[in-house]
Amino acid sequence: MNNIELIEKINELKKEKNAVIVAHNYQNDEVQEVADVIGDSLALSRYCADNDKDVIVFCGVHFMAESAKILSPSKTVLLPEIDAGCPMADMVTADALKEEKKKHPGAVVVCYVNSSAEVKAESDICCTSSNAIEVVKSIPEKDILFVPDKNLGSYVAQKVPEKNIILWEGYCITHHRVNLDQIKEIRNIHPDALLLVHPECQKEIWEQADFVGSTKQIIDFARESGHSKFIIGTEMGIMYKLKKDNPDKSFYLLSQGLVCPNMKKTTLKSVYTALNEMKYEIKLDEDVRLNAKKALDRMLRIG
Ligand code: 13P
Ligand code: SF4
Repeated sequence: MNNIELIEKINELKKEKNAVIVAHNYQNDEVQEVADVIGDSLALSRYCADNDKDVIVFCGVHFMAESAKILSPSKTVLLPEIDAGCPMADMVTADALKEEKKKHPGAVVVCYVNSSAEVKAESDICCTSSNAIEVVKSIPEKDILFVPDKNLGSYVAQKVPEKNIILWEGYCITHHRVNLDQIKEIRNIHPDALLLVHPECQKEIWEQADFVGSTKQIIDFARESGHSKFIIGTEMGIMYKLKKDNPDKSFYLLSQGLVCPNMKKTTLKSVYTALNEMKYEIKLDEDVRLNAKKALDRMLRIG
């Protein structure tokens, strides 16, 4: 089947199965084109918590589809590519977190949504890169154990200095490798462009930025800004929406290495197969789901 036929089939199956296709901002262009909802982790979690579809086809990585299932247990949640994981999420396990909690008995565990359901279940509250600062500010206690992203955790620590933030040794392999030489090089070529970066980049990178935010916040900033040139320090999939929303503005990817191979696994073909064969269905242990939901719900209650 060619892409036009695949899109037709996907639309037929969507109606037949009362399904919705949600896609993260890093997905391949062709997947974003066929999606009903595109967004960052927070927007997609909110959408999945509150919609009337029977089936959610989650075009993203495993933890995102798991969050959808945690929030919508009665729906069938499908992840088109079962191997689409997140290496950062794998850098913390529930057992390792339990051990670390023993070392910091009074600390509140804030868990970045890039984590497994089991880790969420061991945490007090979740956050995304959109709301991490608000989440940490909402906690009365001073000591916070922040897992797993040390870069986002350092960013929050700088913005909320009144808290004692204990970091975990986790990071995103895609964002962590951005370096200062790349910034210097691209700023030499485009000296009048603003630098917009994701907080999963290292401290020395976000310290250089004109704006730091989640994928949605970067998209909103670029659309609302009076500026017309931007260097983008996050995964290349975001360029699709940036260019679509702003045909008269220019966007330059900070580094050609800003590719998340897991986000790129999903294709039109895999979306079609997911709907046609109803795979791969996300299933969770009910105790784990309920405990993980407490941490996600506490986050979602924050504005
Ligand atoms: P956002 O929540 O900003 O979309 O980020 C998710 C992610 O995985 C970033 O690498
Ligand atoms: Fe995980 Fe990084 Fe890919 Fe986001 S970009 S899904 S944090 S590996």
